[in-house]
Amino acid sequence: MSNQRGQWGSRMGFIMAAIGSAIGLGNIWRFPYVAASNGGGAFLIPYLFALFTAGIPILILEFSLGHRLKTSAPGIFGRIKSKFEVIGWFQTMISFGIIVYYVAIIGWSMNYLVFSLTSEWGTQTKEFFFNNFLNVSKGAFHFEGLNTITLITLVLAWLINYVILRGGVKSGIEKANKIFMPLLIVCLIIITVRGVTLEGASKGLDYFFKPDFTKLTDLKVWIAAYGQIFYSLSICFGIMMTYSSYLPKDTDIVNNAFMTGLGNCSFSIISGIAVFSVLGYMATQAGVGVEEVSAGGIGLAFIVFPKAINALPGFNGLFGAIFFSCLIFAGLSSSMSIMEVVVSGTADKYNISRKKVLNIATLIGFVISLLFVTGAGIHLLDIVDHFINTYAIAVAGLIELIVIAWYINLEKTRNYVNKISDFSVGRWWNVTLTVVTPLLLSIMFLFNAYTDFTQGYGDYTREELLGVGGGTLLLITLFSIIFAKTKGSDDYQNMISKGADL
Ligand code: ALA
Repeated sequence: MSNQRGQWGSRMGFIMAAIGSAIGLGNIWRFPYVAASNGGGAFLIPYLFALFTAGIPILILEFSLGHRLKTSAPGIFGRIKSKFEVIGWFQTMISFGIIVYYVAIIGWSMNYLVFSLTSEWGTQTKEFFFNNFLNVSKGAFHFEGLNTITLITLVLAWLINYVILRGGVKSGIEKANKIFMPLLIVCLIIITVRGVTLEGASKGLDYFFKPDFTKLTDLKVWIAAYGQIFYSLSICFGIMMTYSSYLPKDTDIVNNAFMTGLGNCSFSIISGIAVFSVLGYMATQAGVGVEEVSAGGIGLAFIVFPKAINALPGFNGLFGAIFFSCLIFAGLSSSMSIMEVVVSGTADKYNISRKKVLNIATLIGFVISLLFVTGAGIHLLDIVDHFINTYAIAVAGLIELIVIAWYINLEKTRNYVNKISDFSVGRWWNVTLTVVTPLLLSIMFLFNAYTDFTQGYGDYTREELLGVGGGTLLLITLFSIIFAKTKGSDDYQNMISKGADL
């Protein structure tokens, strides 16, 4: 193929990029709340169980496939069996589905970084967020025009993403991660130290960590843990396969996977400590319980945190700026990886230069993401995010593991991995991939489908859920089929027909 495949400049470069992809918005706004509402300290048990039975084993698997086959997700699945190429495209289209709203949230974080300098949000942070800032409409089908202020930062977020990816693997992605990751860690340390030294921090930490072991018998808690691990580790939507396809021949897969998995989860736990210390302080000031001040998802970052920032005894603007910088750095290091899946998969297949693909994909992505800066933006974002997380990634993971179990000689792959790694993985690895995780993913899918069907999701109408959520899943599937059915370059088709000795 005339498209020269990029390569990481160093092992550290790859690890930083992989951890950078894993650590994202999901760690800062999602993990603390998911943990706190699913048993607090006790949640760490299913969470770590999910990390060791699904997260790290799948990371090892995806790293080994990318490293061995040197192509992105569609090429990898296509080489396993040509008709499976569509599975790789399904994962690629999930990434495209995520990137269009992910960039919008990075944009909001940029707005809030500026707002934090003057506490622009005032005292009514909820009203400010929904009415003044987003101009939220009454439903997912009521667009009501574009919002200028979020449009500006949306453009900015896309632009940064674009410039980084244009630099390629080593001079773009690797370099950016080498800047963003240390900055992110420094910001997190500052927030955590400030957080735990606030009056009442222990109240928040107590709420976050106090184990409620009765929750361990609740299936919902285990499902939440698995869901969090898949999204957070960026597995089963093409990212880790793509990133590892840029690895040099000599590498250590097992070590890399453990470092990525453990690095991501440590970050989540530390950000939980930071967030709940601040919430503890806030609850103490207000004389209420922590549960009364905490909220999940977008609410935490853009409603509760601004309120907490208002309540701080000093340096409010600085603290706010550091918190939103954390979101921006974590978001960008993930968004570039999500977009890279699309760029790499398309460039590989059609042998088009990655710059050309990047131009086209960014343009299309940007146009679609305009939906999220309309009055209906937050409704659309919430539904799309829910459907992609709950269904698309679970199905992608399940299919990936079924294919692996039936069409790959896992023992051979394990030997391959062990030969090039310092630490060896035992047979437990095969069991987690072929039995434990597929079983849990199936239960997760059925349980979520049942819950959504019987109780709905949020306050949305059935038309909104089916139209926006169902429509997204339909489009993802449709475009996966279209991309898989079209003919690639001759080199690509040869590569697919050669198959792989796995
Ligand atoms: N892994 C990324 C996150 O947690 C997608 O946000």
